[in-house]
This record gives sequence, structure tokens and C-alpha cells, in this order.
Amino acid sequence: MSDFDVIIKGGVVVNASDTTRADIGIKDGRIVALAETLAGSATRTIDAAGRMVMPGGVDSHCHIAQPSSGGGQNAESWESGTRSAACGGTTTVIAFSSQEKGESIKPMVDAYHEKAKQACIDYSFHIIISDPSDTVVNDELPGLIESGLRSLKLFMTYPKNRVDDREILRIFEVARRYGALVCVHAENHDAIMYMTEKLIGAGLGATKYHAWCKPALVEREACQRVIMLAELLDQPIQIFHVTCEEAAEEIRRAQHRGVKVFAETCPQYFVLTADDLEGDQRQGARVLCSPAPRSVPDQQALWRHINSGTIGNVTSDHAPYNIDAVDGKFWAGDNAPFNQIANGVPGLETRMPIVFSEGVVKGRIDAQQFVALTSTNAAKLFGVYPQKGTISIGADADICIWDAEKKVTITQEMLHHDTDYTPYEGMDVTGW
Ligand code: URP
Ligand code: ZN
Ligand code: ZN
Repeated sequence: MSDFDVIIKGGVVVNASDTTRADIGIKDGRIVALAETLAGSATRTIDAAGRMVMPGGVDSHCHIAQPSSGGGQNAESWESGTRSAACGGTTTVIAFSSQEKGESIKPMVDAYHEKAKQACIDYSFHIIISDPSDTVVNDELPGLIESGLRSLKLFMTYPKNRVDDREILRIFEVARRYGALVCVHAENHDAIMYMTEKLIGAGLGATKYHAWCKPALVEREACQRVIMLAELLDQPIQIFHVTCEEAAEEIRRAQHRGVKVFAETCPQYFVLTADDLEGDQRQGARVLCSPAPRSVPDQQALWRHINSGTIGNVTSDHAPYNIDAVDGKFWAGDNAPFNQIANGVPGLETRMPIVFSEGVVKGRIDAQQFVALTSTNAAKLFGVYPQKGTISIGADADICIWDAEKKVTITQEMLHHDTDYTPYEGMDVTGW
């Protein structure tokens, strides 16, 4: 019998905290040995010479086989979504079990567990709360949180899911009592509705007006408000998909006064801008997501806030809708106005390569920060560290071997998802 199932030999092991030349011994799915030169036999030896060996990615914000917040159907199954995640270096996903208003939560969590059995990597869910009724808050959530689903998610916008300030506080109260983190989609719903009405009323339904209807200010206001509500009950929160200086500034101010607020951003906000929403509806729909893509100065601000620690996590916010499907982006018809086009972009597989290329290769962050942003920090925040997010003795052997010099042009053809396009078609990246 071999000493190890697998030895990964000759690579440079990059953790968030350190970089070392080491061989890795794996047995029964766990890392059991780390040494400069590992002696012993193995069933399989992987030559990692010249490569970076990193903890597999933890993508803590992705929508997989989930009922949509607007209209349309998610293009991905658990099988195709997690397959494509793995092909981009991600070995754990945290997706969403979503409550519709008026529904109870437990049956939907059970049904979602059932769907997720197709997954080919590890997973968990955040529970989306759209209706914090007495039954949900008093009878259902305590047991579910205690069973290990320790993060909730709420939307401040989207008519189907949005919760108002009083409802937010009800969710915070139960999270605080039973020990769950709350993740927030922060945009001011009423301002968005007002702007949408004005734009659509003036005949301005082109996709570029999606960015007009939800400017940075609506994100800033909602961030600031939800932070104040969290501060009121001393409830830890994470703001999802921060896109701009305005929102990051509010988060930074709160962090400085000791509020437990964490922040993530996503690759789309590093490489897309509002200009990408121009063109015809079909073209614009490919990048239409919420919050809207912003500007080059905002992209620069995000990197600054990553380096100063405001933003600690980069997730995909994978939200896949097909372009050519009656239940996809254009569920409301071929030439639908921006407010009736499904929101979201696919990105499970391209998340880590884009962050590596834009971040490490372009000198904005180093390789250890890359590991922190794409794996370790999410593992810590969502309670799966040190099983995930580190290469150390006893950790799960969830590992990606990174070729830092490989040049790839992203195309739909090379990806392993089931969505019928990528918003990054033709983009060159270095590292895979
Ligand atoms: O546009 C996006 N991000 N769609 C997915 C749902 C959400 O907002 O998180
Ligand atoms: Zn969101
Ligand atoms: Zn999302």
C-alpha cells in the first residue's frame, strides 16, 4: 500500500500568509504531509515544478439553479455550474436557497439540498429571506441556523425579494440571537423605481439606461443605511458586490468606527464599465447586471480598497441567463427594455483567472493577496477555515495548481458552463 494517495511535487505553495517551496502529501482527501522533499510512495504523483500550488477557490456568492429575483430561469444546473467552477480553480461554492414572499423556508432548503446533490465540488447555501414572517423568524430560522446554514442574505431591491428597514431589523435580530452572518444586496429600491419610471416613460429603454437608473448614489445610500441598521443591533454583515468609491467609502468609515461590516466585489466590476451596456439590446444584455458596471476610476478605487483592506473577498456573483432562450435574459421578449431583462452575468469559471491576471500579473496585488481574496478570507468569514482556504496539515486537499504564465483568450467555446455566452469573449488573461 502506498504512503500517500497523491503527492504534488516541486511546486511553490502559496497561502494567504506565506509562500514556501514544498511537496504535498494527500491521503483520504486530506493534506497529511508538507515537506521540502517528501519521501514515501504515492499512487499518483503530480509534477508541479514551475507552478504555484494554492488553496482551491472559495466562491461565496453564486446563483446556481435558483429562482430568479427578476424574471427568467438560471441557465446552470448544479452539475454544470460546479463543473465550470472547478475548471477555473474553485473548489467550494456558497450558493443560495431562496425564499419567495409568503413561503416557508424549510421545504425550500430541503429541495435545494436535493438539487445540489449533483455538485462535483463542495458547497453550502446562504438562505435568502424575502419575507421574515413570525413563523420564519421564530420557528424556522433558529433550527436552520443551528443546523449549520450560518449565513442569511437579504435584498434591499428587486420587487420579488426586497425587504424594508423594519424587516431588515427582524432578520438581523434572529441572526444576532443564533449567530449568523447576513449578506446584503444594497441598492435603494424606491430611487431605482423612480428613475426607472422616468426613463421608461421618456422612451429610454436601451440597456445603457440600466446604469442611469441605478447610479453609484443608490448603492452608497443603501450601504450607509443597512450599516446603520446593523450597528443598531450590533449584527455582523457583508455587503455584496461593492462597485464604487462611494459605497466603499461608507464601508470604510463604518469599519473604522468598529462596525462589523465586511465587503466583497466581483471580477465584472474590475473589467466592465457602463460603456459596455451601449449598443443594441442583445449586446448590452450580455453585461447587464446589478449593481451596474461603472467607470475606470471606480475600478481603480476597488483595487485601492482591496489594498487598504476595506474589501476582503472577490466572488463571481455568477448569475447565468441565456441570451438565446425564451426563459433567459429576454424572458419578456426580444427587444425588452432594460428593466425587463434578467440581471446577472455568468462567471464561476473566469473569476480566479481574471482576478489573477488583472491583480497579480498587472502588479496590483501579490500572489498571497490573491489567495486571501479568492479563498482564505471567504473560508474564514463563512466558517469553513481551516478545512478550506489553506494548504496546511489536516486541511481538505482542495488545491489548484496555477500556471502563472499561461496566456489564454477567454471564449465561450473553452468554458465548461451551460450558459450560452460569456461577457468576457475575446479577453486575454495571463494565468490559469
Ligand atoms: O445582477 C445580478 N447580480 N444578479 C443576480 C442577483 C443579485 O443581484 O445578486
Ligand atoms: Zn445582488
Ligand atoms: Zn448575487
